[in-house]
Formats: sequence, structure tokens, C-alpha cells
Amino acid sequence: MACSKVLHYFTILLSLAIVRVLGHIPRSYPKHAHHARNLNTIQSIYNRTVYPTNLVFLANGSASVPAGLFNENATGRITPVGNFSGFEDSVKYFFALAPAAQPPTYAAFVEAEIVEFVSECAEVAASTVYLRTQVVHPGAPDDGRYITTLKQIAFWRSDSTGAVQYYDAWIPSLNLFTAKIANATILTPAYEAATIQSLCGATQTLCTGGNMQYASTGDCVATLSARAFGEYDEIWGDNVVCRSIHILLARIRPHVSGFPYFVGAGDVIFHILVTEH
Ligand SMILES: *[C@@H]1O[C@H](CO)[C@@H](O)[C@H](O)[C@H]1NC(C)=O
Ligand SMILES: *[C@@H]1O[C@H](CO)[C@@H](O)[C@H](O)[C@H]1NC(C)=O
Ligand SMILES: *[C@@H]1O[C@H](CO)[C@@H](O)[C@H](O)[C@H]1NC(C)=O
Ligand SMILES: *[C@@H]1O[C@H](CO)[C@@H](O)[C@H](O)[C@H]1NC(C)=O
Ligand SMILES: *[C@@H]1O[C@H](CO)[C@@H](O)[C@H](O)[C@H]1NC(C)=O
Repeated sequence: MACSKVLHYFTILLSLAIVRVLGHIPRSYPKHAHHARNLNTIQSIYNRTVYPTNLVFLANGSASVPAGLFNENATGRITPVGNFSGFEDSVKYFFALAPAAQPPTYAAFVEAEIVEFVSECAEVAASTVYLRTQVVHPGAPDDGRYITTLKQIAFWRSDSTGAVQYYDAWIPSLNLFTAKIANATILTPAYEAATIQSLCGATQTLCTGGNMQYASTGDCVATLSARAFGEYDEIWGDNVVCRSIHILLARIRPHVSGFPYFVGAGDVIFHILVTEH
């Protein structure tokens, strides 16, 4: 009896010791080959939003996207921007909206740092990227001034070759990002009126002939003023902020946005955002 009690006691001690030792053994998760492949793909995607690499897409559109990054049927969602189907739509929303160091803000992404990344299965990955946003204006006093950092959290599913087939990405706090870039209090009545004025000016300049949207700037202002303005955290809606994205895309793919092909429009959206006030 006594002997069995002692044995029992030692068994407990031994178990505790094993638990303690195991608890201190650092666990190592082997990195598979697909981990490096998928990280490289996702880093390559984000690198193409960094200035001046993003100018390549603005100049040459989807033909400039290297093979292997997106499947031809790539489909997904970028909250709060929208849902996208197919290669053309997907690459446009990934690459055409990155700020391009244009006046008046000269904002651009200068670094895409992937701060979190997991990919324990070949076709699945999750990432968080920080897009460091600065003034890029060589020669100006504020060249290199840090503005803010845009964050994107994304879940990815790739095809058997490693190209992205499905994605679900989220950009939090687009309102705050917009306000930081504009260095203004946004969504005030004055801001909204000035934004509509600028948007209509750009629309009338870009959309002429068969692409004309409004009879005049005044007509455009009256029409858009009657619409919900919306906000950048809900930019997918049928509102004014949504149109401020469409006019940016006008320079890439005319038959979707209804606007003529237009290269070198500059950062119309940020021009619109900063406005005259
Ligand atoms: C991404 O860009 C950084 C900075 O230019 C570079 O060091 C890195 O090699 C690039 N990575 C990929 C996968 O393109
Ligand atoms: C666009 O493509 C043309 C023709 O291939 C090339 O000469 C030009 O350098 C490209 N533009 C950019 C900005 O890469
Ligand atoms: C894309 O979808 C079409 C139509 O479903 C299909 O025929 C094609 O094989 C798909 N392409 C890839 C690369 O999966
Ligand atoms: C995007 O797709 C989801 C899921 O199908 C749907 O609930 C949502 O309403 C769609 N959003 C837009 C803006 O189309
Ligand atoms: C931002 O706006 C404030 C107030 O209008 C101004 O004082 C400040 O200089 C501006 N900052 C930058 C970096 O433009």
C-alpha cells in the first residue's frame, strides 16, 4: 500500500517535470516550400503598389502585371471598395488606386512591409501589410515627410501554380487615411461641396464626346449634390465618394468606367480630396 502510494507520488512528480520541460522546449514549425512561394507572390503584389513601380500599371494597365501573380479568373473582395471578378477587374483595384506622388499632396506608398504572414497549406495564406505613405516631392522642403500608414489584412487562396485565385482583403480606417492625406477635416458640408466641385471639373475635362456624363459642370454639381455623399469607409455605395474612385480608374479601363482612356491624369482623387479650401 505504502509502496504504491510512493509510486503514485513519483508518477505525479514525473508528469509535472515532463510538463515543465515540454513547456520550455521552443516549438518549431517547419516552413514549407509553398510558404516562401506564397510570401513572394504576395510581396510582389504589394510591391507593385509602391511608387514608382505603381506608375507602370498606370501607364500600361493589366498587360504590365507579371504572369503568376493572379489567376485569369481571380475573384475577391476588398472591403470597403467592392467585389471584383476576373483578372482585369482584380488587378485594376489592386494596382490603379495607389497614390502616385501627384500634386497637390505628392503622397505615395514608399514601402510595403508584410508584418504578418502565415501559409501552412499550399493554397492558403493570410497576411497583414503596412503601406508606408510619405510625401514624394524631390527638391521640396517636405520631401520624405511621413504622412501615415495604410493597413491591409488579407486572406488568399491560390491555384495549383501559386497564382492568386480568391482574395478577401480589408482596409480599415479609409476615412482617417483620406483625412491624413488631405490634411483636412473631411465630410464637412464645405468639404463635400468643394469635393463635388472638383469632381465635376475633372469629369467634364475627362469625359467628352461620346463619354460625356453631364451637359455642364453646373448640371453635374446639381446632380451630385442631390446624391448621398457617402464616406470613404463605405466607398462601395452609389454615392459621391464612389465616383471619386471611378474617375481615378477612368485612366485605365474606359469601357468599365465609361470614361475615355486617360494617361497622366495624376492623382485625381487626391486632387479632388484636397480641393480648394
Ligand atoms: C519588394 O521590394 C523590396 C524593396 O524594394 C525589395 O527589397 C524586395 O526584394 C521586393 N520583393 C519582391 C518579392 O518583389
Ligand atoms: C509601357 O510599355 C511600353 C512598351 O512596352 C514601354 O516602353 C514603357 O516603358 C512602359 N511604361 C512604363 C511606365 O513602364
Ligand atoms: C477560368 O474560367 C474559365 C471559365 O470557367 C475556364 O474555362 C478557365 O479554365 C479558367 N482559367 C483558369 C486558369 O482557371
Ligand atoms: C460582395 O459580396 C458579398 C458576398 O457575396 C455580398 O454580401 C456583398 O453585398 C457584395 N458587396 C458588393 C458591394 O457588391
Ligand atoms: C495641415 O493643415 C494645418 C491647418 O490648416 C496647417 O497648419 C499645417 O501646416 C498643414 N500641414 C501640412 C503638413 O501641410
